[in-house]
Amino acid sequence: MKRIDITKEKTKKSFDYEWTKSEFHKTSHLTEGFDIVNDFLNETGMPKEWFKNKICLDAGCGNGRYSYAMHKLGAKVYAVDISDTGLDYVKKFKDIIAIKGDLNNLMFNEESFDLVFSSGVLHHLENSEEMFKKLILLLKKNGIIYIKVYEWKNPIKLFITELIRKSFNDNNSIWNFSKKLADVGKNKILYNFLGLFMFISDSAFTNFDHYATPINHYYKEEEIVEWFEENGLKDIKIINPRRWETHKNMIQRFFRGKNGGFIRISGIK
Ligand SMILES: C[S@@+](CC[C@H](N)C(=O)[O-])C[C@H]1O[C@@H](n2cnc3c(N)ncnc32)[C@H](O)[C@@H]1O
Repeated sequence: MKRIDITKEKTKKSFDYEWTKSEFHKTSHLTEGFDIVNDFLNETGMPKEWFKNKICLDAGCGNGRYSYAMHKLGAKVYAVDISDTGLDYVKKFKDIIAIKGDLNNLMFNEESFDLVFSSGVLHHLENSEEMFKKLILLLKKNGIIYIKVYEWKNPIKLFITELIRKSFNDNNSIWNFSKKLADVGKNKILYNFLGLFMFISDSAFTNFDHYATPINHYYKEEEIVEWFEENGLKDIKIINPRRWETHKNMIQRFFRGKNGGFIRISGIK
């Protein structure tokens, strides 16, 4: 097996594991009281009226929480992922077209979609920028592309995060660690303190994403804006649903990132 295939297999295994774990993730789109549609609209900054009769691609859909939101808003949704356990949940919704596959080998015609949406995926791929270009080809003229990727972290934080990642060799131990870290992360003081030196979230899933997957790219906002500009996208928008995580101060930016750890960005073809 080639190195790239081994890495891909490891990525798939970690997500297969992750999607079997969470009751919240499994049922987030079904749980009463959790408004996944509103969460999706907040994440994308898009108006709810936009989606009616649009054709959308959820590239790396996971358990399909956002495929479901787009479907609820009236769009026809194609949801693609390499993870079998993730897709098992998507398949529960007959109107969503669930496709098991690698984003590197998509079979869609060019200019097929009004929206290409890819949340939390590109930073786990070996060839993120190349994939971004491929995704743009799938957009119709005036179609929208939205991506969410990990934000740059300072070298100390990256070093310690990598050190922890390398100390594990199975998904079970990473999961147990991720859960404990999430509990610690619920304490604001500890969260703020540890967050200076290592990745920490109050969600076990977000922790697991960071510590289990073999590839994690971290980007500066300027770098991703450049991808959008170089590919001729217009109306480029950075979306920040959690405004308190947007930092202007240099020291905060160094320790927390300009956008609090994730870059959410959209543009029009
Ligand atoms: C962090 S999850 C995000 C899932 C979903 N977009 C969400 O926000 O809930 C990343 C997803 O990308 C998928 N993925 C990673 N590499 C992929 C590839 N080469 N082709 C298709 N899917 C991939 C993983 O299986 C996983 O479900």
